[in-house]
Amino acid sequence: MKQYIVKDLQETEKVAKNLASSLKGGELIALSGNLGAGKTAFVKALARALGIKEEINSPTFVLLKVYDIAYKKVNKFVHVDCYRLRGQEDLFDIGLGDYLNYDNIIVAIEWADKIVNLPKDAIKVHLEIVDNNQRKIIFS
Ligand SMILES: Nc1ncnc2c1ncn2[C@@H]1O[C@H](COP(=O)(O)OP(=O)(O)OP(=O)(O)O)[C@@H](O)[C@H]1O
Ligand SMILES: [Mg+2]
Repeated sequence: MKQYIVKDLQETEKVAKNLASSLKGGELIALSGNLGAGKTAFVKALARALGIKEEINSPTFVLLKVYDIAYKKVNKFVHVDCYRLRGQEDLFDIGLGDYLNYDNIIVAIEWADKIVNLPKDAIKVHLEIVDNNQRKIIFS
């Protein structure tokens, strides 16, 4: 388990960039943390580091958005936000089966704790608010 205390958004972005550089394709990044903890901010930084030029917004009204990218052998980045899901959901029921475990795809899921069957090898990123701009970021 790796843990960081970051003092502002810029430091969060650095942690996200650092993660991006370690990705090869096929990974699932499972984000959790309260409202406003910085999950979307983290995904935006990750996406930028992967070369996505479009603005990443939280897919609030659709569950997932797919972006075309060109990063190593990865050509798709999938951003999922489970906030609106009511109960505990199955990855395959929400249509993620088409995107998991392909080495040309990286998936990032906000509110991943609402998913019952996260793969064991998911990269878990938990964000906690310490104060205004400070966050604790825990990888497991
Ligand atoms: N160190 C930090 N890391 C991340 N975000 C920060 C930090 N400091 C301040 N912020 C601010 O906190 C807010 C985080 O919002 P964000 O939408 O990323 O949270 P979220 O976890 O996705 O929330 P939600 O559950 O509502 O989707 C942003 O306004 C961001 O600028
Ligand atoms: Mg969000």
